[in-house]
Amino acid sequence: MKGLILSGGEGTRLRPITHTNAKQLVPIANKPILFYGIEAIKNAGISDIGIVVGGTKDEIKAAAGDGSRWGVDITYIEQDAPRGLAHAVLIAEDFIKDDPFVMYLGDNLITGGITNLVEEFGRNGANSQILLARVTNPQQFGVAELSHGRVVRLEEKPKEPKSDLALVGVYLFDKNIFQAVKNIKPSWRNELEITDAIQYLINHGYNVQSHIINGWWKDTGKLEDMLEANRMVLDTLTTEINGFVDSNSKVEFKVVISKGAEVINSVIRGPAIIGNNTKIINSFVGPFTSIEHDVRIEDSEIEHSIVLEDSVIKGIKGRIEDSLIGKNVEVSASPLKPKAYRFMLGDSSKVGIL
Ligand code: DAU
Repeated sequence: MKGLILSGGEGTRLRPITHTNAKQLVPIANKPILFYGIEAIKNAGISDIGIVVGGTKDEIKAAAGDGSRWGVDITYIEQDAPRGLAHAVLIAEDFIKDDPFVMYLGDNLITGGITNLVEEFGRNGANSQILLARVTNPQQFGVAELSHGRVVRLEEKPKEPKSDLALVGVYLFDKNIFQAVKNIKPSWRNELEITDAIQYLINHGYNVQSHIINGWWKDTGKLEDMLEANRMVLDTLTTEINGFVDSNSKVEFKVVISKGAEVINSVIRGPAIIGNNTKIINSFVGPFTSIEHDVRIEDSEIEHSIVLEDSVIKGIKGRIEDSLIGKNVEVSASPLKPKAYRFMLGDSSKVGIL
């Protein structure tokens, strides 16, 4: 069994994290989304992983490397343009050969792992197994229509969805998928759609199984979605203190304090994660907060938020909530006169003032 992670696509900028080009590298609980996929595949006992890369290949390769950090072998497969998920499968044939494989979309996050699914696929003799999840916005996904529990029809981003069952970005295939991807035509958006390839399997009598799951997240580029994903993952943490917590500080519930981090005269109430070399001084960090590495939070309160690396938050009177603070950002109370708000905000920024 092999793994295939799709991490191509154009360098679309996920607003408001404008510094992050590859959407697969957006951090959730201080870890790029892509790494959750690699780990889920490795935990399912698969160590031969192909990653399809496109315009952001340098960033992805720099982040994931040769896979040795996870004890897996990563082979990069270059796609000249984002020609569709089924096109990504087509160009991966030399890597996959005749093996069954799990295909994992690099911008999807699934809690609970995929081990059971991979094992079941090995047992049930299906040619393909797909995952489905109930969503409120099926127009934005591939949508499955079931009859007596079996998938009969799949439609990509339908204007009038036949169900609320969206295709989740994890698929299991055997070698018959190659025949399918070679026989389908590009869609209206000029992509070779994996939904059409799976429909081909169904139409030609192959055995396609489906599973409905919970605990799935897919970015739509909105702040609330990122915070939700962050919540979902932080909730699964177990406490780990690898940094320094002084005797005047309290660390409550599920909290990860990473190496080199310092918590001085502060309260950290989990679930929360504090990154490497970050300093929390005279502050409160509340539930569902991820603070990346090399951040300094001083004389401030923050909860239900994400703070990316190298940022500083200092002397803020009101509690910061529901916020996403990018890399290298400074939010501080200023002693300068005249008393005034002073901003330097990037594109697509949003500020809420008391
Ligand atoms: O996330 C689940 C959805 O993913 C499914 O419900 C849809 O049926 C499926 O088509 C797909 O929809 P999206 O349009 O949202 O896919 P997206 O373009 O975001 O690509 C998914 C991942 O695959 C992303 O990490 C980029 C990568 N990719 C995409 C394309 C089109 C490639 O590596 N190569 C490609 O050509």
